[in-house]
Amino acid sequence: MAHKNFIIAIDGFSSCGKSTVAKALAKELNYIFIDSGAMYRAVTLYFLRHAISLDDKPAIVEALANIHIDFIPSTEKTQILLNGEDVSEEIRQMHVSNMVSEVSAIKEVRTAMVAQQQQLGKTKHIVMDGRDIGTTVFPDANLKIFMTASPSVRAERRFAELAAKGESTTMEEVVANLAHRDHIDSTREESPLRQAEDAIVLDNSDLTQEEQLRFVIDEVQKAKLKG
Ligand code: DC
Repeated sequence: MAHKNFIIAIDGFSSCGKSTVAKALAKELNYIFIDSGAMYRAVTLYFLRHAISLDDKPAIVEALANIHIDFIPSTEKTQILLNGEDVSEEIRQMHVSNMVSEVSAIKEVRTAMVAQQQQLGKTKHIVMDGRDIGTTVFPDANLKIFMTASPSVRAERRFAELAAKGESTTMEEVVANLAHRDHIDSTREESPLRQAEDAIVLDNSDLTQEEQLRFVIDEVQKAKLKG
């Protein structure tokens, strides 16, 4: 069944540039951009701060009931609020990145986040990026893009991103973190990362941001023509 609102799902491995494309596309179309990975990161931050053990199911369920995530859209940078606190910067730090895949593999966490994500698509036109948007969250999305890039391009991008934020890390640490997350994201039991059959592949290893945006806008136009 087609959605009343136009829903664009952008999935792919970590550091493929999904958020950059999704953000630019949302701006161009005047849609709402939702970074679903930021939601898993906010949950991870909450678990770290409250020392929630990932084996303690009752504590996880109780914590999830106390977690409220909001997005404050703006033209420059969407803010993510965890129970009212702006955690946009902290959720990108290495201590969160190192644990987020384990947290996002927990069934109860996914159920809670997927329900919130589906709710966001009920009232607005959205561009949502993540791992399971086209397969689980919005299997009938109007357009599904699956992004890939070579491992070295991805590692360089993530390293530059962290360095720009003054985060002290090494290339080896970044490569190891990406490989670790790829493995968990694609082998977990609960909605693993995989390409939806009807997704359009965008390999952006050698494309500029301009070229990527043009590619997806073309696909949006084709999808709209198809109805
Ligand atoms: O996109 P990101 O690197 O910020 O995502 C952080 C983690 O969240 C990543 O390791 C996988 C997980 N994730 C997920 O399981 N499902 C999503 N829809 C989005 C992210």
